[in-house]
Amino acid sequence: MIRLFRKTITVSQAFVLLGALSMVIYLSKYNIIHPNIPILLVSDVKNDSQVMPLTTVSSHGSTSKVQVMEKCDANMSVTSLTDFASLPDAIKNFLFYRHCRHYPMLLDLPGKCGGINQSEEVFLLLVIKSSPNNYDRREVLRKTWAKERMHNGVWIRRIFILGSSGDGYEKIKLNKLLQAEQEEFNDILQWDFHDTFHNLTLKQTLFLGWMERNCPKVRFLFNGDDDVFANTDNMVEYLQSLDNNGSKHLFTGYLFINEIVVRWKGSKYFIPNVIQETKTYAPYCGGGGYLLSGYTALVIYKMSQSITIHPIDDAYMGMCLAKAGLEPSLHVGVKTLGLNMPSKGQDGLEPCYLRQLLLVHRFLPSEMYLMWKQVNDPHLDCRPSTKL
Ligand SMILES: *[C@@H]1O[C@H](CO)[C@@H](O)[C@H](O)[C@H]1NC(C)=O
Ligand SMILES: *[C@@H]1O[C@H](CO)[C@@H](O)[C@H](O)[C@H]1NC(C)=O
Ligand SMILES: *[C@@H]1O[C@H](CO)[C@@H](O)[C@H](O)[C@H]1NC(C)=O
Ligand SMILES: *[C@@H]1O[C@H](CO)[C@@H](O)[C@H](O)[C@H]1NC(C)=O
Repeated sequence: MIRLFRKTITVSQAFVLLGALSMVIYLSKYNIIHPNIPILLVSDVKNDSQVMPLTTVSSHGSTSKVQVMEKCDANMSVTSLTDFASLPDAIKNFLFYRHCRHYPMLLDLPGKCGGINQSEEVFLLLVIKSSPNNYDRREVLRKTWAKERMHNGVWIRRIFILGSSGDGYEKIKLNKLLQAEQEEFNDILQWDFHDTFHNLTLKQTLFLGWMERNCPKVRFLFNGDDDVFANTDNMVEYLQSLDNNGSKHLFTGYLFINEIVVRWKGSKYFIPNVIQETKTYAPYCGGGGYLLSGYTALVIYKMSQSITIHPIDDAYMGMCLAKAGLEPSLHVGVKTLGLNMPSKGQDGLEPCYLRQLLLVHRFLPSEMYLMWKQVNDPHLDCRPSTKL
């Protein structure tokens, strides 16, 4: 487990750490470092800014990583872009930091997939986008559809992906909460960037980079929000029915084709011409939840390295697929849009309805808990049978 400058580090440990770090810098300077030792020297901006050593040291098993990151400064030249002054603050902020693609990790899970080669034993990796404040959602998912378990003979594993929220004391407090959750549940990947809607694409690309390093042979991934009801048992059965062991393309969910780019400034999804000129998006699957193969996840990561970050994360995945010549597909069992919880008067019907689906948007934690219980109730009578 990662401990980043924890106060529990003693003075002598700190000196050892410092010594090791200067050794690494010394060795790399003279090119005598073994090429297999993963040293990441990341620098996004070519300017004279101070080098800020943000060191992440992992002492899990035999691998050890040292990341030295240069602070990524705002790109002030974006202010000269057409109509910059009239853009909403979130978009301005996005443009200032769009080029920053590497952030230090605060919480890591180096052993989640059991190592690079063992990762092929993870059949379905649940990658859930959460944010620090959503403790109640994480808690209920751990007890329901995101429970780590074996289903139908294969392993399901869970990861929450997060940035950080708040400033000052609030940020410290939330980070402590996540640390406590990590100690108990071991299911959090956290990076030190501001967890906002327009940073979701950043979150996804950071995750994909992590996956390539830690779980490259995972068979399939579910990528979705922390407020959806995902029928993960059905997902496993659906994926097992395919002629694909994760080594072929798969990207499926609620499909958007020729989706129009929103130009109305009041919308959360507003995108100005300076970010995207074309009027429609490449085909993509709604970010509430989609399934993809390990193969496709790695292809997307590769493509993402040469595609400028776009604020809408699911649309960005579509752009990466398009660049690779791959297509997303529709899965009729995924209802991420226009389908809220069926109305309260229809109680008897809901669990049966959900039992046949892969995913429905959006649920309150209490509804989620109850619904998972009901859907999994062996006495639930859903005749006439409507299996997927
Ligand atoms: C900064 O923004 C300008 C204007 O959009 C752009 O041309 C330039 O490439 C950006 N620099 C970096 C480092 O991304
Ligand atoms: C993983 O498997 C490959 C090929 O079988 C092998 O060369 C490599 O050493 C293994 N790596 C680890 C970390 O066990
Ligand atoms: C994304 O995170 C970075 C790092 O915390 C922050 O500087 C930037 O403002 C964030 N971007 C948005 C659009 O919130
Ligand atoms: C997955 O299937 C491919 C053929 O489609 C095969 O070559 C490969 O060995 C299989 N991988 C595993 C780990 O079973």
